Amino acid sequence: MEYTTLGDTGMEVSEICLGCMSFGGGREWTLDREESEALIDRAIDLGINFFDTANVYSTGESEEILGSALEGYDRDRQVVATKVFGEMADHPNAQGLSRKAIEQELANSLDRLGMDTVDLYQIHRWDRDTPVETTLRTLDDAVRRGQVRYIGASSMWAHQFAEALHTSDSLDLERFATMQNHYNVLYREEEREMLPLCDRENVGVIPWSPLARGVAARPHEEVAATTRGETDEYLQGMPYLQGGGEEINERVEELAAEYGISMAQVALAWLLDKERVDAPIVGTSSVEHLEDAVEATEVDLDDSDVEYLEEPYEPLPIAGHE
Ligand SMILES: NC(=O)c1ccc[n+]([C@@H]2O[C@H](COP(=O)([O-])OP(=O)(O)OC[C@H]3O[C@@H](n4cnc5c(N)ncnc54)[C@H](OP(=O)(O)O)[C@@H]3O)[C@@H](O)[C@H]2O)c1
Repeated sequence: MEYTTLGDTGMEVSEICLGCMSFGGGREWTLDREESEALIDRAIDLGINFFDTANVYSTGESEEILGSALEGYDRDRQVVATKVFGEMADHPNAQGLSRKAIEQELANSLDRLGMDTVDLYQIHRWDRDTPVETTLRTLDDAVRRGQVRYIGASSMWAHQFAEALHTSDSLDLERFATMQNHYNVLYREEEREMLPLCDRENVGVIPWSPLARGVAARPHEEVAATTRGETDEYLQGMPYLQGGGEEINERVEELAAEYGISMAQVALAWLLDKERVDAPIVGTSSVEHLEDAVEATEVDLDDSDVEYLEEPYEPLPIAGHE
């Protein structure tokens, strides 16, 4: 496994981050506790030290599973990231980024993880109802209390992220060290504004759905028949195969055949080739696919392959945030 420095944190993370959204009950495509723990064990065997979960994944169960799976390992070796924003209970202060919501949710996340400190605490979305200064002061306090080591953000408009960075700098508060955004070979809208901003601000980039929720990992005509293709409503709303998407998917398949590797490896190698990307957050429910993702860190695409994959892309509607 190769390791990389996450943004300007100085913290070393594996080039593949294991996404934990598929852990815990509730949906057809998620794994139960035992299966999830086996996948986490294999990830650690393979050298993965970076895990991304959220309070909302399986309504807290993903955090519980990750925490109990890591219990048997040296905590110092693992980099654990979680998130706050989404609705966790049926009352108005169990969501959003107010001081009340963040402080309650952080305590709940640490409790479920069974940890005193989380390495990276991310805001899952922008909260239009809370001034960003309030959110940043709350996160800064959490860092000072030792509950959080670094703070990060996830999908939002670049102007919002720029405002947050400017606010933290002008008030001398902890600044967002990472951006977890929606970026893959079939969805590249982040190249317009967000990625250049992250580059300029030395913010680490950890893309979510790096395989376009599986659409970049198999021929497009097969996607609808997979469990996730049939049941993941979020996937069904994604524009991955619009514009030049089908053509890109076919080119991923063609290059995979040419190099004798999997489509997932071509799609991940394309992302890992981007200097601004630190570690894609891969989601999988299979040990074989996890191993495939780790092997992708050894694949080098030629510049001509990258150009070939990118050439059919057409602008897409924004997907993943409002
Ligand atoms: N911040 C946010 O708003 C946000 C949003 C979405 C996701 N995330 C994070 O990103 C992580 C990954 O997201 P994701 O699961 O949506 O996206 P993904 O990694 O792009 O796609 C996962 C899908 O790809 C399939 N797959 C993986 N490897 C494969 C292979 N070698 N061959 C064929 N299919 C393969 C998986 O199927 P199998 O299960 O069969 O392997 C699964 O259906 C999440 O766990 C979460 O941590 C964050």
